[in-house]
Amino acid sequence: MDLEAGIQQLKKDLNAVILAHYYQESEIQDVADFVGDSLALAQQAEKTKADVIVFCGVHFMAETAKILNPGKLVLLPDLAAGCSLSDRCPPGPFKAFKDKHPDHFVVTYVNSSAAVKALSDVIVTSSNAVKIVDRIPKDRKILFAPDQHLGRYVMKQTGRDMVLWPGACMVHEIFSEKRLVQLKVEHPDADVIAHPECEAPVLALADYIGSTKQLLEYTQSSAKQKFIVVTEAGIIHQMQLKSPGKTFVPAPPDNGCACNECPHMRLNTMEKLYRCMKDKTPNLDLAPPLREAAYAPLKRMLEWS
Ligand code: 13P
Ligand code: SF4
Repeated sequence: MDLEAGIQQLKKDLNAVILAHYYQESEIQDVADFVGDSLALAQQAEKTKADVIVFCGVHFMAETAKILNPGKLVLLPDLAAGCSLSDRCPPGPFKAFKDKHPDHFVVTYVNSSAAVKALSDVIVTSSNAVKIVDRIPKDRKILFAPDQHLGRYVMKQTGRDMVLWPGACMVHEIFSEKRLVQLKVEHPDADVIAHPECEAPVLALADYIGSTKQLLEYTQSSAKQKFIVVTEAGIIHQMQLKSPGKTFVPAPPDNGCACNECPHMRLNTMEKLYRCMKDKTPNLDLAPPLREAAYAPLKRMLEWS
């Protein structure tokens, strides 16, 4: 069957909006109403008038949309689409970590569960983390979780000291410094653009560092014609659409290894997207007390952004 036509019809029938992250497969990005980074997608979810939000991303992103819209049906094509950052920061150990630093302001990356968000003072994404940490009074000590690499990058940008939860993204931590140096030698005319979830030695080689949306905008505004892209390869689809004449080299190079594709993000498929809209399941559900506790730091982020 024509999945795309089926999805478009279901979108009308349900009065649904399809939100997709840049790391989704190209076909899903093309059928979505809005494609964005974590912050832009949360902002879209907050203001949508649709009755149903179909979230093509990972669990924490759909959960964030549900926290912002408790009265709406929020669908996720595959409920098993997790995130290594969120999965390796369970609420119990996180609470124990937080209790060891009782006087710290808790800044939590949006790549976390609702239960961890509920234990936080403010949420950040990769596009607003520096701005938000900058707003925290200078006399406050800060705990940052769960991405240690983003945390270190924010420390460097803001000059603030932070206690870091030792988490990492399974996709961004595989980019090797050595292979990137080789790629730079092969493409001396390219700018290296990297996501701040990469390790510090990789970020040190980057000409520009930013969230997926910021990387995309950089490729559009830069006079450069070639870019080595050090993040999940799904973003290259939008880069090619926005700048058809430019060249994008995924890091690591295309050698048959798909390790620069997030296995969680790629669990979503067009078939599962169609099926979840048709069956109105799987959907996100949150107990009201948890939803309310997670809402406060998330709302603070949206106000501070
Ligand atoms: P963005 O904030 O760029 O959307 O990043 C989300 C993410 O999961 C990166 O791995
Ligand atoms: Fe999580 Fe990394 Fe996948 Fe982003 S790319 S969803 S941080 S595992």
